[in-house]
Amino acid sequence: MKSYDQIFLANRAWAQTIKNVDEDYFKNLSLGQAPKYFWIGCADSRMAETVITRSQLGQFFVHRNVANVVVHTDFNCLTVLAYAIDVLKIEHVIVVGHYGCGGVRAAYESADNGLIDNWLRNIKDVLHMHRSRFDVLPDDESRVDLLCELNVVSQVANVCHTTIAQNAWARGQSLSVHGLVYSLHDGLLKDLQCSVTGLDQVSDVYRVIVPPG
Ligand code: CO
Repeated sequence: MKSYDQIFLANRAWAQTIKNVDEDYFKNLSLGQAPKYFWIGCADSRMAETVITRSQLGQFFVHRNVANVVVHTDFNCLTVLAYAIDVLKIEHVIVVGHYGCGGVRAAYESADNGLIDNWLRNIKDVLHMHRSRFDVLPDDESRVDLLCELNVVSQVANVCHTTIAQNAWARGQSLSVHGLVYSLHDGLLKDLQCSVTGLDQVSDVYRVIVPPG
C-alpha cells in the first residue's frame, strides 16, 4: 500500500470515532466558525496549534509560513489577518515561533539558500537591529534561540503596524497581539511578555491612525 493511502484510512477512522461520540459533531461545525484565536505560526511539521494546545476544531484561525513572519507587503498574510480581525472579530492574535527554527537558523547563518533568502531577509533585519545582544552570547545555539524570540517580538510589532490592527483599535474593537515561543524539546509554550493591546503602545513612527483624545 502506498503511504499516501494511510491518510484516507486514518481520516475515515477519525471521522467515525468522532461520530460515535457525537452524531451531530460535523453538522454543528459546518454551520459556521467563531474561533477565539488567530494563530500566526511557523510551517514546521512539529507544532500544530490544535494539538499542542489540546484544542477543538474551530478554536483557531490559522496562518503559517516559514519562520512565522509578518511582512507588510505579503497580501496572503494581510488577507488572513483582515479576515480574522474585520470579519471574525477575533480578539487575540498570537504570533508563535519555536526554538530551533530552521528558517531562523538559515537567516542567522551566512549561506546561499536561493530564493528563500529573500524571505529570510526580514529576520536578518532583526539580527542586524539587535547585533550587540548576540555578541555576548556563548555559542551559535543560544544566538539562534535569541533570534527565534526576537523574531517573534518583531512580528508582533509588524502585526500592530498594519492598517488592519490600527483601524480595529481606532474603532474601539478589543484586540490583543501576543508573542509566544514553543520548545520542541519539552512541548511547552512560553509567553514572551510583549503583548500589545492598544494604539498608544505602537511607536508613533508606525502609526497611521491618530489615537482619539
Ligand atoms: Co520554524
